[in-house]
Amino acid sequence: MSRVKIAAGNWKMNKTAKEAVEFVEALKPRVADADAEVVVGVPFVCIPGVKKAVEGSNIKVAAQNIHWEEKGAFTGEVSGPMLADLGVDYVIIGHSERRQYFAETDETVNKKAHAVFKYGMKPIICVGESLTQREQGVTAELVRYQVKIALLGLTAEQVKETVIAYEPIWAIGTGKTATTEQAEEVCAIIRNVVKELYGDDVAQAIRIQYGGSVNAANAAELFAMPNIDGGLVGGASLKLDDFEKIAKYNK
Ligand code: G3P
Repeated sequence: MSRVKIAAGNWKMNKTAKEAVEFVEALKPRVADADAEVVVGVPFVCIPGVKKAVEGSNIKVAAQNIHWEEKGAFTGEVSGPMLADLGVDYVIIGHSERRQYFAETDETVNKKAHAVFKYGMKPIICVGESLTQREQGVTAELVRYQVKIALLGLTAEQVKETVIAYEPIWAIGTGKTATTEQAEEVCAIIRNVVKELYGDDVAQAIRIQYGGSVNAANAAELFAMPNIDGGLVGGASLKLDDFEKIAKYNK
């Protein structure tokens, strides 16, 4: 099965609404003939402007978080209906920064995944180990566990539409990319868990990205690996030249 690679930018807490629109306007013509599906993961306040700016283009928009409840007394949170109303395509959930600083757990990731589907969007679920966990040799069991809990209760059809981003924490924002072999090894482990849970059909359909210091120079090599279906890109997604090259990794 041939899966469409996905180049998703995770802007994190960067760019004002105005800067975001300017960036996306400039990005549009550059990635119109991209090899990969192009997604920009922008701060909540940038979503309306960016959605308008990408109209008629091949750029999709991701939010960086969601609350699993529909509405209510959850100060500071944003719900599925609010994001769906803005036309959000994807929601990044379970990023290690949210797990570390905002008490995100595998269980809340699972609730959020259900909420994302309930309101017609698709999740990009982040998993990955810390340096200590890698050094202790528990990467495979940790990532398998994270994936199993994240997908709990989702249907086969939903899992086919899910994107999982393998992001080793030690490679995020450090300039220290996992080797293509290390990234491929864990992405293959993830595909295998999905196969155990949902069968080969679903495992061949789900897209598994690598994230962690992906840049213009290493994207092509990473994306060429059989189990790596693109990248979740932090720093390099904030630079037009770099993100264009990543989206056009095959040119
Ligand atoms: O979600 C993307 C990410 O955490 C990787 O960030 O800056 O290492 O590409 P960066």
